Amino acid sequence: MTGSSPAAPRKRLFVKTWGCQMNVYDSARMADVLAPLGYAPAETPEGADMVILNTCHIREKASEKLFSELGRLREAKRAKEAEGGRMVLAVAGCVAQAEGAEITARSPWVDIVLGPQSYHRLPEMVARATRAAGAVIETDFPAEAKFDHLPEAAAPQGPIAFLTIQEGCDKFCSFCVVPYTRGSEYSRPVAAVVAEARRLVAQGAREVALLGQNVNAYHGEGPDGATWGLGRLLRELAGIEGLARLRYTTSHPRDMDDDLIAAHAEIPALMPFLHLPVQSGSDRVLKAMNRGHAAADFLRIVEKLRAARPDLALSSDFIAGHPGETEDDHRDTLRLIERVGFAQAFSFKYSPRPGTPAAGAPFQVPEVEKDRRLHEIQHLLREQQLAFNRSRHGLRIDVLFTGPGRHPGQVAGRSPWLQPVHAEAPLSLVGQVVPCEVVATHPNSLAARLIGGERAGDQPEQEKAAA
Ligand code: SAH
Ligand code: SF4
Ligand code: F3S
Repeated sequence: MTGSSPAAPRKRLFVKTWGCQMNVYDSARMADVLAPLGYAPAETPEGADMVILNTCHIREKASEKLFSELGRLREAKRAKEAEGGRMVLAVAGCVAQAEGAEITARSPWVDIVLGPQSYHRLPEMVARATRAAGAVIETDFPAEAKFDHLPEAAAPQGPIAFLTIQEGCDKFCSFCVVPYTRGSEYSRPVAAVVAEARRLVAQGAREVALLGQNVNAYHGEGPDGATWGLGRLLRELAGIEGLARLRYTTSHPRDMDDDLIAAHAEIPALMPFLHLPVQSGSDRVLKAMNRGHAAADFLRIVEKLRAARPDLALSSDFIAGHPGETEDDHRDTLRLIERVGFAQAFSFKYSPRPGTPAAGAPFQVPEVEKDRRLHEIQHLLREQQLAFNRSRHGLRIDVLFTGPGRHPGQVAGRSPWLQPVHAEAPLSLVGQVVPCEVVATHPNSLAARLIGGERAGDQPEQEKAAA
């Protein structure tokens, strides 16, 4: 099964992904790049011909996962060699970008280390790795844009598809590694984004989530030669026949301009749920974080968004215990959370990252203190999430069904607010937006029943395919 003849025999590729949705998207694109070489997806690393670990560097715990996984893979690689085979082991993603050759120094059984900008070079790197004994390392930011060199044809993603439209970040928040691992901001041209969205819809996607580390900083070249912002791009994408739902993530409050806010009022397909990280409710901490806005600015943006789209629900990210954060600052964060009311949110204990300004800053907050603050933030956020889910009870909502549910006879899907939903329904509804009534609410999901024949009245979505 595992030859290397030019007829590209079937080989097994196992990809493991950590980190953000952009990594999920990148993993799929790496599989696309390798498909013409005969690599087909495998469920487990054991016996695979190639293993890619797509890593995340955002917090210490995330990076550590790589090294424990590499320990396990060493055994799998040896077992493959004992059978006379070969397993090519590649480390990709943000740890690869940040640590480069240090990875192979620490784990010499790694064959390839490649940063997020080099995925289009993977076939050539695999060829080099299989020929040569030493490791192949690529962590430059190449001059050519990776997106221009990735294959057009790609495996279908299903009813909900991701589409990366922007990469990198120029904001340099005090705590964050992303500007170093992903490089400076780059926006794909409008025509390329529209073409990919059309292809995704033709392959069965009903919802497209636009991705970027700083997605609302999008400034792509339009077909008219002008620079388009995200609001204009969303209006263009909303016109694609068969595309029922649009989302975008992750945004920065600073780039939430009036045109984008207006798009929330104008585009019914733009779902009423927005992830908008604020990190802290204290102006002192926001300044130390280099976020470039105050708490009041965030509240104003939320007000404008809710005026544009009254059913809009919000999500956010919070960091507990950034260097210099006092008890009063922490209270300010809790106050902001209370004022806004989030449908859900992520919160993290501050994790010092090598090379970032905050890691070397004075007044690091003691671990026990960080733990306590995080706990208080999470307690409040959990209450808000419960209250939000409960408030959906009895509502008529549109559900996009995405696949079989956990139990026989159940189908799983997503609400307009991204909550997982399950309903007793035929599998033939997968890929459709269907009016349902919420009959039970749980901390992390909703239960719904189909509304026979009628359309959900609360928030009708565009059903262009059916129109
Ligand atoms: N681009 C997004 C966030 C990307 S990282 C933004 O600008 O907000 C995702 C989240 O990880 C961040 O929002 C932040 O809350 C968290 N995070 C990033 N670096 C961190 C660190 N050093 N310690 C703890 N959390 C961190
Ligand atoms: Fe990181 Fe800040 Fe850039 Fe977000 S905006 S990716 S938190 S540096
Ligand atoms: Fe992690 Fe890199 Fe995404 S650090 S969160 S995988 S951009």
